[in-house]
Formats: sequence, structure tokens, C-alpha cells
Amino acid sequence: MRIADRIANLGTETAFEVSAEAGAFASEGNRVFPFHLGDINLPTPSTVVDGAQKAIADGKTGYCPNAGIPQLREAVARDVALSHRTDYAAENVVIQPGGKPTIGKFILTMMNPGDEVLYPNPGYPIYESQIEFNGGVAVPYGYVEGAENFAIDFDSIEEGITDRTSLLILNDLQNPMGAECSTEEHERLAELVLEHDLYVLADEAYFDMRYSGRSTSFVEQPGMAERTVLLYTFSKKFAMTGWRLGASVGPKEIVDVIAKINVNDESCSNHFIQYGALAGLQGDQREVQAILDTLEARRDATAAGLNAIEGINTFVPNATFYLFPNVTELMEHKGMDDYEDFRRAALHATGVSFTSRVHFGRELEDEPNRYIRLAYSGIGVSDIEEGLALLKTWAEN
Ligand SMILES: Cc1ncc(COP(=O)(O)O)c(C=O)c1O
Repeated sequence: MRIADRIANLGTETAFEVSAEAGAFASEGNRVFPFHLGDINLPTPSTVVDGAQKAIADGKTGYCPNAGIPQLREAVARDVALSHRTDYAAENVVIQPGGKPTIGKFILTMMNPGDEVLYPNPGYPIYESQIEFNGGVAVPYGYVEGAENFAIDFDSIEEGITDRTSLLILNDLQNPMGAECSTEEHERLAELVLEHDLYVLADEAYFDMRYSGRSTSFVEQPGMAERTVLLYTFSKKFAMTGWRLGASVGPKEIVDVIAKINVNDESCSNHFIQYGALAGLQGDQREVQAILDTLEARRDATAAGLNAIEGINTFVPNATFYLFPNVTELMEHKGMDDYEDFRRAALHATGVSFTSRVHFGRELEDEPNRYIRLAYSGIGVSDIEEGLALLKTWAEN
């Protein structure tokens, strides 16, 4: 078989491989406690389901506009304008089959081959993959662990910027760390963006997945909405990961190009699902709140279970559905240096399945600490407690 050379630069999302490994372990008759994938085992709100079913019955089963149905573009614009305190109209929104497509389409639209792109690492692995696949240079920036959050390591950003840097990717609220930018971090980033004439992808897949307070967006900074495309998704807030619906939100000139890419890729996003999402945005929000309430209880159980283990220390984010505990001491105690050995040993001894730092971008040189990631979106409280009790027994022996 002669596969094209460019495919050598295409990365992947190795969390799916961990998921397959856990599935194989379970199929051998073992109990698995699934903390590995950011999927949600809760039903999609009935407003969405009913809206989509009605749309099917109404015959919304043919092609629809490439940029999405106008009513949904309008509704997403209103939703984002309100939550971001920024002006957006339907022309600023292009509907996508999920949140993920915005990453590749933004890079394709805004990055020339050879350009350098700053991206978070640890971070969602698709950034690295799409930058390199499209002929760019992926330049990582890191985070530093504080008592109550992970903060952007501005030294690594400043060291990474050159006159070839054209784009900054920001993931706020962050996967895998649950990190959240402060206003000061947003201000500092905005200064750098203006100084170096950068464009920004703000991946806000978890913007609405927060348990108290209000999320603030980078586009609230003066001048940033003109330079930023937001990744918006229905996957998390409406427990719609498998439905595949999201949007790119940003300056009309960029949105129009992304719509043209839609024509070339998928023609349009699923027609009747757009009506489901519209009904979800316009309808009663109680089921959406119930999803958040369930996740919050799971977060508390996961954090308590982890922090009860000798050698593990995790801060408790107010958002996302991930915890990123520091396991440096525990790996030392277990005499393990390799992340994958550690992960597999824990899986085989306890059934607790998680991902680790290595699933979120290439490891940087001389990282002082070791981390694993637990997603609590796909596992109920009693299983969380049972799994983490087993992990504690294994860890402390
Ligand atoms: C940071 C981040 N961005 C984007 C996505 C993609 O979301 P979607 O499932 O809507 O494509 C995810 C999914 O886990 C994510 O964690």
C-alpha cells in the first residue's frame, strides 16, 4: 500500500487507545472503572431529543446550508454574545459537526506552511496533530502548578515567540488540567497577541461546564474578538458527544472561509440535529443544570478519593470534568518511571483506567512532576468511590 507522505505528520488522540485497552481488559471478565475518556454517560436533555425527532418527522432530512441553518447560527450567536459580553451575529457563526473540526479548519484557514503556532502542552493532542499535518511548526507552552490552579507559564510563551509565530491556541477552560485563566492571564496574553500580531483559536469546549461562578472569555479583552475564533460545542453541555454538533464563532471573514471548507469536507452538518440543538438552546435548561449537578457530585467524590491516597495530590477545578493529579511521589514509591507502565499496572491491579500526561502532547524536556488525568464524566459516584478505594490499597502497598 502506498500511503501519501503527509500522513506521517498526522497525530491522533491516544485516549481512544487507552479506551480500547480498557475495553479489552473488561471483555476478559475484569471490572473496569472508566476514568479514561471525556465522554458523558448521561442522557441528552429531552428538549434536544424531542427537537431532533420532530425535525425528522417534519422532513428536515435533506441537505441544509453549508454554514448551518440560519436559526441555529442566530441562536448560537445570541448564546455566545450573552455569555461573552461581546457582539456576535449569525454571520459570525458557522456550524460544524462537533467542536473538533474547528481546530483543523482554523489552522487550515489561518496558518501558512512554515508558520509557528503556540499551543498548550499538556493539552488536547489534536492541536499538535493539525499544526504539523498542515505543515506548521508546533511550539509548546506549559503551565505551572499552584496551590489552587495551574497557571500559564509565560516564560515558555515568551521564549517560544519568534517572528514566524502567527497563531496562538488557547484552551480555557483546559483539558486535561481543568485550568482556568485569570483576567490577568487574559490581559497578558492579549498584550502579546497585539505586540506580535497573532490570531487566536480559543478552544472553549468546556466554557459552560462550570459548577459555580461565571466563565470569562479571552474575547472580553479589547480587540481580541477581531482576532479570535471560538471553538463552541454542544458535546459537553448538552451531553451530545455522539451527536456531533458544534460551531466556529469569530470574525466574518474567517467564518466565511471555514464555511467554504465545510462545502469541501462534509457539505453541511446534520440537518435535523441542528433543530435538536436549537430546541436545546431555546428550551427549559433544567436538564442541562441537572447534568452539571451530577458532574459536580462526581468531581467531589473523585477529588476526595484521590486526595485520600498517599503520594497523590490534586487541586479541585471549578470547571471541566477532569482532574489532573500530581503523582510524582506515588510513581517514585512504586519504583516506576514510565507513564504507560504505571497506567497499565494500575489498570491490571485495580481496574481503574485513566490516561496520563503522555496522552496530551509530547512530553517536554525536564518536566519536574508527573501527572495522570481522570475524567469523571463517564462514571457514577459509587463506582468512583469503589474504584478509588482499590487504587488507594494498591498505591499504598
Ligand atoms: C479541549 C477540547 N477541545 C475540543 C474537543 C472536541 O469536542 P467535540 O467532541 O465537540 O468534537 C474536546 C473533546 O474532548 C476537548 O477536550
